[in-house]
Amino acid sequence: MSLEVIILAAGQGTRMQSKIPKVLHHVGGKPMLAHVLDCATELSANKIRVVTGFQGQEIRDAIESSAPNYLTSIQWFDQAEQNGTGHAVMQAMPGVDPKADCLVLYGDVPLIDIEVLKNVVQSQSTLTLLTAKPDNIEGMGRILRNERDQVVGIVEQKDATEEQKEIIEINTGILLCKGKQLADWLSKLGNNNSQGEYYLTDIVAMAVADGAAVDAVIAEDASRFAGVNSKQDLAQIERTLQKLNAKSLMAAGVTLVDPDRIDVRGIVKCDQDCSVDINVIFEGEVTIGSDVTIESNCIIRDSVIGDDCHIYANTVIENATLGSRCSVGPFARLRPNTVLENEVRIGNFVEIKKSRLDQGAKANHLSYIGDSTVGKNVNIGAGVITCNYDGANKHQTIIGDDVFVGSDSQIVAPVTIGAGATVGAGSTITRDIEAGDLAISRAKQVAYKNWKRPEKA
Ligand code: UD1
Ligand code: CA
Repeated sequence: MSLEVIILAAGQGTRMQSKIPKVLHHVGGKPMLAHVLDCATELSANKIRVVTGFQGQEIRDAIESSAPNYLTSIQWFDQAEQNGTGHAVMQAMPGVDPKADCLVLYGDVPLIDIEVLKNVVQSQSTLTLLTAKPDNIEGMGRILRNERDQVVGIVEQKDATEEQKEIIEINTGILLCKGKQLADWLSKLGNNNSQGEYYLTDIVAMAVADGAAVDAVIAEDASRFAGVNSKQDLAQIERTLQKLNAKSLMAAGVTLVDPDRIDVRGIVKCDQDCSVDINVIFEGEVTIGSDVTIESNCIIRDSVIGDDCHIYANTVIENATLGSRCSVGPFARLRPNTVLENEVRIGNFVEIKKSRLDQGAKANHLSYIGDSTVGKNVNIGAGVITCNYDGANKHQTIIGDDVFVGSDSQIVAPVTIGAGATVGAGSTITRDIEAGDLAISRAKQVAYKNWKRPEKA
């Protein structure tokens, strides 16, 4: 059976009070619409039809430039005027296979539980609604059932009687309908209601009148089908997602000191017995081995961390690869293309960029290492700086195995320091050093006997 997904994303989202189109606001580090597109992809939709209107071009550009793999199956439709959800679906109907199942999703309902959606998609009925019973039903369409508990219609809150407003089962907005019947019922929609809109929900009563099989799947966890209309909704949905993320990390064996104080804006995989303290943020794709400890307030983005590493508090790691048994921080910054082999130690206020440190190398205090290759067991003293930039170009520093770089030295790249060499503290190194040599470049110490400091006049 072929599946066509229609995603409604034309609404203006006035209550977001934002220049950014509503469906591009992020949840869990990615646009809401991207979550919905991922969902359609996971259902193996043959076609994804997205209806945009307000700021449509910006939405298309943003989704296309992030270039995910589903782009080939997306078709964009324009709804110039937002005349209601039924009118929106009409815009996406041209070319729909009459035999296909059409699934309507909303671009501002990003946390969709895919398992529930699979139940909807597997339904054999002509029309299947996804309903829920959330705590807050304000503004929602109410599900009307007859005495035999069969769905007979949906009434919008603005059109509902006081009695109907008491109904706690609501329309999530998500529905599945056979293409042929959907096209037929849409063509008969009117807009004679309190909002003067073409309501998609009116097809339910039409289906019932036609004697079609109408079914409803009730979502047990209503929070997964909540929509976003305001920044407050957005924050709430973010929390819902983060709770789910925390739950799945704990299920994988990760110890979270406080599951309410961790944020995953992407995908994180952790092996067993990792421990994550409060206010840690993971972004992009992060892969963590076993027995890793991450202390509080760290940000870790698009990185791989090997087994038994210890990341101390307030460390920022981006696009880096760490071997096993490394320790980093507190207050360290690993910038893109940093590679730490096993047992590397990076201490406080050390910044590393585009550099590889081999096994057992150490930079424990206040250093900048950029565009460098650092050998095994190298000791970088406090305050050492690789001067990699001459104002126009970046240059490489190569430090051999077992080198000792004394504190407060500057290494003006390009420079190569041979294995086992020693750099005396306070040196400015501008030329290569041969293996085993000691290089010092500093003024000789002078002592003036019994020196009298000037006195204040
Ligand atoms: C809709 C449903 C209601 C349901 C609720 C769930 C109808 C008539 N009502 O109400 O039963 O309980 O969602 O949140 O369907 N959109 C367009 N073009 C339009 C209008 C809307 O693309 O002309 C899109 C919006 O961007 C949004 C979605 O459709 O993604 C829902 O629109 P919204 O105005 O929020 O619908 P509600 O009135 O809340
Ligand atoms: Ca809404």
